[in-house]
Amino acid sequence: MAEGSWIRRMFEEGIILKQKYGEENVFDLSLGNPIMEPPAKFKQELRKIDKNPVPGMHRYMENAGYPETREAVALQLTREFGITFTMKDIIMTCGAAGALNVVLKTILNQGEEVIIFAPYFGEYTNYIDNHGGVTKILSTDEGFMPKLGDLESAIGAKTRAILINSPNNPTGAVYSEDLLHHLGELLYKKEAQYGTQIFLISDEAYRKIIYDEFKYPSPLHHYTKSIIVTSHSKDLALPGERIGYIAIHPDCNQREELVDGFIFCNRTLGYVNAPALMQNIVRHLQSVTVSVADYQRKRDFLYDKLIKMGYSVLKPRGAFYMFPKSPVEDDVAFVRQLQQWKVLTVPGHGFGAPGYFRISYCVDDRTLEGALAGFQKAAHKFNLD
Ligand SMILES: Cc1ncc(COP(=O)(O)O)c(C=O)c1O
Repeated sequence: MAEGSWIRRMFEEGIILKQKYGEENVFDLSLGNPIMEPPAKFKQELRKIDKNPVPGMHRYMENAGYPETREAVALQLTREFGITFTMKDIIMTCGAAGALNVVLKTILNQGEEVIIFAPYFGEYTNYIDNHGGVTKILSTDEGFMPKLGDLESAIGAKTRAILINSPNNPTGAVYSEDLLHHLGELLYKKEAQYGTQIFLISDEAYRKIIYDEFKYPSPLHHYTKSIIVTSHSKDLALPGERIGYIAIHPDCNQREELVDGFIFCNRTLGYVNAPALMQNIVRHLQSVTVSVADYQRKRDFLYDKLIKMGYSVLKPRGAFYMFPKSPVEDDVAFVRQLQQWKVLTVPGHGFGAPGYFRISYCVDDRTLEGALAGFQKAAHKFNLD
């Protein structure tokens, strides 16, 4: 708790600044809380269900979720990836966070290792810790890609899972087909070497937020022990509704036992089932996404401005974050300096990557434009321009 979440800390300090200086004078780029409203079809489905309620729709259900919803998710995944999913491969969850906790609880024995790559979503270490796991953190290359040589050395007899996140929070990096192919090969090799089962958990919270008409490369095509965890928090802008799912590769061995484990853990971790109303809605929205073009426009705007100011930043290919290098070594001090100019960001420390800072650009244009003066002052102060 003392280490805390940097994202939450900056967000909460921002609330105090807003009270002091007025909401319109503080430019908050700290939280990945989409400013966009859910797509119009979301409201249409809500109205439809209000007019024609399904009898019993507020009751308990199967812990895995409504069969119709699981079928709709399976159909969408089959369409997206050309691999035939059925409802038996899908468990509806309370967001991606719920999905991750359910998967980790199911697969981990005390002391087993989960490998993650820095920079990473800060809650991962807490979730792994929740279920008796040990986190092993590996660094990435200058493009924020895993280094497979390092991974090869890091995998041992205790390795139970590799947890990846593409498109990535906080960098916006997207893993290539080639990287996933070699990753899959490496995992098969290591399983054979140790006689163990290694799962590839793929956190796909941003799968549908991908730019420049790039097609999302999926680990499903490269490793049969892939488990997808995701949600509609970002692609339908519904983070407060807590709706997501787990999908297991249909060819995963021991699939049925694992699915039984997921269902058991969904129940016994206290989630019981994903919210009923949302399950009834999102089953009609599987092929719908918020306006990715809008996010891309914001990305292009911010990226161009930061580059012109002299910041060093990789152009994100997905999600809605940027992860520039901090102009000074101490990223916390830099973020504090930006705060003085009423611009709120998050230090790289919060993502296991000191020396960087995260900007969340899922905000309105006014906030993005308003933050530029602070970034410019910082660029000047630290001699970037
Ligand atoms: C990479 C990543 N995984 C998981 C989550 C949690 O998503 P949810 O709100 O659907 O639980 C987030 C939320 O920001 C995230 O960025």
